[in-house]
Amino acid sequence: MNAPAKTEEFAVKIPDGVYAETVLSVEHFTDHLFRFRMTRPAGFRFRSGEFAMIGLMVGDKPIYRAYSIASPSWDEEIEIFSIKVPDGPLTSHLQAIKPGDTVLMRKKPTGTLVLDALTPGKRLYMFSTGTGIAPFASLIRDPETYEKFDEVILTHTCREVAELKYGFDLMEEIRNHEFLSEVVGTKLKHYPTVTRDAAFPYQGRITDLIDNGKLFTDLGVPPLDPVVDRGMICGSAAMLKDTKERLENAGLTEGANNKPSEFVIERAFVG
Ligand code: A2P
Repeated sequence: MNAPAKTEEFAVKIPDGVYAETVLSVEHFTDHLFRFRMTRPAGFRFRSGEFAMIGLMVGDKPIYRAYSIASPSWDEEIEIFSIKVPDGPLTSHLQAIKPGDTVLMRKKPTGTLVLDALTPGKRLYMFSTGTGIAPFASLIRDPETYEKFDEVILTHTCREVAELKYGFDLMEEIRNHEFLSEVVGTKLKHYPTVTRDAAFPYQGRITDLIDNGKLFTDLGVPPLDPVVDRGMICGSAAMLKDTKERLENAGLTEGANNKPSEFVIERAFVG
């Protein structure tokens, strides 16, 4: 038997049923947060707010983690917002990617943070902590969100101010976007808060700000009402549980793709 040629020996085999896409840009926000944009496969369809399995070849093995797609469904590129875990099986490698590198994406997107899982309403709350903002980065850039709701409120809570930058950048991108700025108008409200950084006017966990009513007085809106308000929640398991409890106490019920209702939840995935 002949020994394999050198080129074959080193060629990386992309697994079947997986897209291999090219990284277009990478932006690092803090020591543990970054985003990247990559090419979008021609036949790839998803609904804004869904997640997909994103991965890399590490040695000769693919490693995947679930990531919300942060770009809207109309975008020609795919955007991902990720944490960096120093010893994370995927993110320890993913944080080193550069434009031109190959990133893998499994073909089937899925998820519950989609407009179809909510019954009609007037005001849509998107409650997020940390990288839980990613599915909402997709939805706030989708015109359909503003066709379905008169008012969209994105809350984003992080430990420190530096971690809010991705959200501030999104708002600026929308304001400067020729088409989106018109569609969004004054419908979108951004409510960032921090929990461990004195250098910011908005302080506290979103659950506490719901309990003490500050969220509503700051925004100038009435308290949660199941007739007009809808909700989406994305954060850690504890944050989901505690925020869901507040919505249920206000009379909202949880929905799903096959049973639309007044709010939906999804865990922010950890890489
Ligand atoms: P805190 O600093 O008071 O823990 P983490 O990085 O731990 O996921 O936290 C991200 C943000 O979510 C932090 O501001 C944190 O506040 C907040 N948070 C953590 N747990 C909860 C919870 N159960 N309910 C609401 N907010 C939470």
